[in-house]
Amino acid sequence: MKKTTPQPAPVSRSGRFSGGPAADVAAFSESISFDWRLWRHDILGSLAHAEMLQKIGVLTRAECKAIALGFDEITAEIVAGKFQWKPELEDVHMNLEAELTRRVPAGAKLHTARSRNDQVALDVRLWLRDEIDALHAELIALQSSLVALGARHADVIIPGYTHLQRAQPVYFAHHLLAYVEMLERDHSRLGGCFERLNVCPLGSGAIAGSTLPIDREFVAKLLGFVDAKGRPLLTQNSMDGVSDRDFAVEFCATAALLAVHLSRLAEDVILWASAEFNFIKIADAYTTGSSLMPQKKNPDIAELTRGKSARVIGNLVALLTLLKGLPMTYNRDLQEDKERLFDTADTVRACVRLMAAMLDHTTVKADVCRAAASDPQLLATDLADYLVKKGMPFRQAHHVVGAVVGFAEQAGKPLDQVTVAEFQKISPQFGADVAETFQLDRAMQRRAVIGAPGTKEVKKQLARWQSKLAKLSS
Ligand code: ARG
Repeated sequence: MKKTTPQPAPVSRSGRFSGGPAADVAAFSESISFDWRLWRHDILGSLAHAEMLQKIGVLTRAECKAIALGFDEITAEIVAGKFQWKPELEDVHMNLEAELTRRVPAGAKLHTARSRNDQVALDVRLWLRDEIDALHAELIALQSSLVALGARHADVIIPGYTHLQRAQPVYFAHHLLAYVEMLERDHSRLGGCFERLNVCPLGSGAIAGSTLPIDREFVAKLLGFVDAKGRPLLTQNSMDGVSDRDFAVEFCATAALLAVHLSRLAEDVILWASAEFNFIKIADAYTTGSSLMPQKKNPDIAELTRGKSARVIGNLVALLTLLKGLPMTYNRDLQEDKERLFDTADTVRACVRLMAAMLDHTTVKADVCRAAASDPQLLATDLADYLVKKGMPFRQAHHVVGAVVGFAEQAGKPLDQVTVAEFQKISPQFGADVAETFQLDRAMQRRAVIGAPGTKEVKKQLARWQSKLAKLSS
C-alpha cells in the first residue's frame, strides 16, 4: 500500500487525535473546492451568531467588533481573489474560522454553542434564499420574452399539433402563452419552497442544541428568518434542524420540473427552426455552425437546454438517493448535497437566461406560418361544429365530416374546394354558407371561449400578462 504523508492537524481535530489525517483522506474528504462559494453566507451567519454571543455575554462588545472587522478584511481579500483557501482545513467553515482566529484571538470563541452541522444547514438555506430570489427575477424575464415575442407577432397563426400531427389553428402567441402559464406554476412552486426553507436552524448545535442560554430568536431575526409580521421562524427540533435537507430536494424537484418545461419549449423551437417547419429564424449570434457542413445553422442553445434538463433531473434523483438510507442525524454523506444543489441552480438559471436571450433574438416567418395554418383540414372540427349548429348530434356530425374528408382525399382536392353540391350529397344539412367555415380569420374569431385561441381572447391574455409582468419586473 502506498504510504501518504500525514497532514497538519486541522482545527476540527481535537486533542484526542495524535496527528492530522493521511493526505489521501484529506483529499477525499475536503469540500472547500466547491463549498467555498458559501463564504458570503457563512460570514453572514457568523456575524449574527457573534452578535448573539455578545448579547448573552460570551463575547465582549470589543471582541464582537474585532470579529466583525476581521471578517471585513477577509471579505475584501476573498473579493479581490487574494484569500488562500486551504484544502487541509476541509471546508469553508473551518477555513474562515481559522483565518479569523489567526487575526482576531476572540475568533476562538465564535464556535460557542455552534457546530458545523447547524452552520452548514444555515449557510445552504441562506444561499438558496438568494438563488431563489435571483431565479424568480430571471423567470419573470423569460416570461416577458415569451410574451413580447407573441405580442410582436400577434396576428400570426400556426397549426396547433397533437401527436405532432396538425390539429387545429392557434395563434402563435397562444402557443407561447402556454409556456408562460407553465413558468407561472414554477414560480409558485419556488415560492412555496422558499417559504418552507425560510426557517433558521442555527442553535441546533451538532444534534442537541446547547446548554448555554443562546437566543435563537435574536439570530433568526438578524438573518431575516421572519414571517410577514416580523416574528422569528425557527426549526423546532434540533435533530431535524441538522439533518433536514427537504428544502434542497424541494428546490431540485422544482428546478427539475422547470428544466422539463424549458426542454419542451426547446424542442418546439428546434422543430420550428428546422427546414421542415421553417416557422422561425434564430439570429446568428444565438446559433452555431458545423465544423464540416458550411450551410449549417444549428439551434444549440435550445438543444443544450433540452440536454441539460437531464442533469437537473439526475441531481434530484441523486439527492433523494443520498437521503433515503441515512439514519438520524448528520452524516457526512450530506456533504454530497452541495454539488448537486449548486449544479442545479447554476444550470437552470443559465438555461432560463439563455432561452430568454435567444427568444429576444428570434423572428417569426409570418407567411410560412400562414401557409401552414391555411391547411383547410385544420378546420374539420369547425365543420362538425357547423353541423351541430344546424341541429345535428356531434357524433353524427363527426362521422359526416369524416366522410367529407375521405371524399376530398379521393377526389384529390383540398377540403375547401369541395363544392356545395358535393357537400350536400354527403349530408343535406350542409347549406350554401358552408364555405365560410374555411375562412381562417373568421374561424379564429369564433373561438371565444375563455382560454381558447380566439382573436379577442388571445389579445386579452397577452394584455393580461403584459400588465402583470410589467408590475412584477418594476
Ligand atoms: N463540510 C461539511 C458538509 O458539507 C460541513 C459539516 C461537517 N460536519 C461534520 N460533523 N463533519 O456537510
